[in-house]
Amino acid sequence: MTLSGQVALVTGSSRGIGRAVAAALAARGARVVVNSRTDPAEGEAVVQEIIRAGGDAAYVRADVAVEDQVETLFDRAETLFGPVGILVNNAGVTESMPFAETTADYWQRSMNVNFLSTVLCSRRAAAAMAGRGGTIINTSSIRGFDANGREGIMGYSAAKAALNNFTRTLAKELAPQVRVNAVAPGFVATSYMDRVSEEQKRQWLDVIPLRRFITAEEIAGVFVFLAETPFLTGTIINADAGFTLGRG
Ligand SMILES: NC(=O)c1ccc[n+]([C@@H]2O[C@H](COP(=O)([O-])OP(=O)(O)OC[C@H]3O[C@@H](n4cnc5c(N)ncnc54)[C@H](OP(=O)(O)O)[C@@H]3O)[C@@H](O)[C@H]2O)c1
Repeated sequence: MTLSGQVALVTGSSRGIGRAVAAALAARGARVVVNSRTDPAEGEAVVQEIIRAGGDAAYVRADVAVEDQVETLFDRAETLFGPVGILVNNAGVTESMPFAETTADYWQRSMNVNFLSTVLCSRRAAAAMAGRGGTIINTSSIRGFDANGREGIMGYSAAKAALNNFTRTLAKELAPQVRVNAVAPGFVATSYMDRVSEEQKRQWLDVIPLRRFITAEEIAGVFVFLAETPFLTGTIINADAGFTLGRG
C-alpha cells in the first residue's frame, strides 16, 4: 500500500484506461477521485467497484476542457479527500476526419480535450502541490511520436505531440517538488476495439512486433510504476508492444 494517504485524481476514468488506473491506484492505497464528462452512472459504477475491492473513491462530473469546471473538480476533490497529490491526465477523445474536411472547430475540439485539459488540470494541481510535492502523469499516445501520427486523426496526433513536449517542459519547470511523466500507450483493448473489424485488427497486429494488444489493466501498471518511482521525471514511457520500433 505504498500510496496510502495520497489523494489521486484520474480524469476520464469512467471506463477504459482511466477506469483501470483508478482501480490500480486505489488498490495501492490512494483515495481516488473518478471523473468523466457525460455519464455519472458509469463513473459511480467505477466508484462502487473500487469500494467493493476495499478501496476509497468518489465520482465528480466535470468537462476537463473547460476552465471553470476544472476549478470546481479540484475544489470538490479537496473537500472530499484533501489536496490532490497524484494527478492522472487521462481524458481524451479521437475524432476521425479527412484533413481536407477539417475545420477550425475540429482542431479546437481536438486540442481542447486532448491537450488543453491537461494544461488546465496540471496548472491547478501544481498550485496545490507547491510546498507539499506531488506527481502528474499524462496519458499520451504512440500517435504523438515522430512519424507515427495517423492520417484521419491529425488533430488527436498533433495534440498528443504537444502533450509530449509539455510533459518534459513542465517536468523542468516544476522540479524538484513535482514530478511530471507520461505514458504513451500503443493499442489498448478498450471499447473502441469493439467497433473495429477483425480485418483491421489483423492489419494492426501485423505491425506490432509482439503481435498482441495491451489490456487496460496491464497499462495501468505502468501508471502505478510512475506514481511510485521517486527518481523519474520528464520520462515518457512507450508502452506499445514494440509498435514504435517500426517493422522496416
Ligand atoms: N485505447 C487505446 O488504444 C489508447 C492508445 C493510446 C492512448 N490512449 C489514450 O488513453 C486515454 C483513454 O483512452 P481510452 O481508450 O480508455 O478511452 P475511453 O474508453 O473512450 O475513455 C475515455 C474517458 O475519458 C472521458 N472523457 C472524455 N472527454 C472528457 C472530458 N472533456 N472531460 C472529462 N472526461 C472526459 C470519458 O467519459 P465521457 O465520455 O463520459 O466524458 C471516458 O471516461 C485517452 O487520452 C487516449 O487518447 C488510448
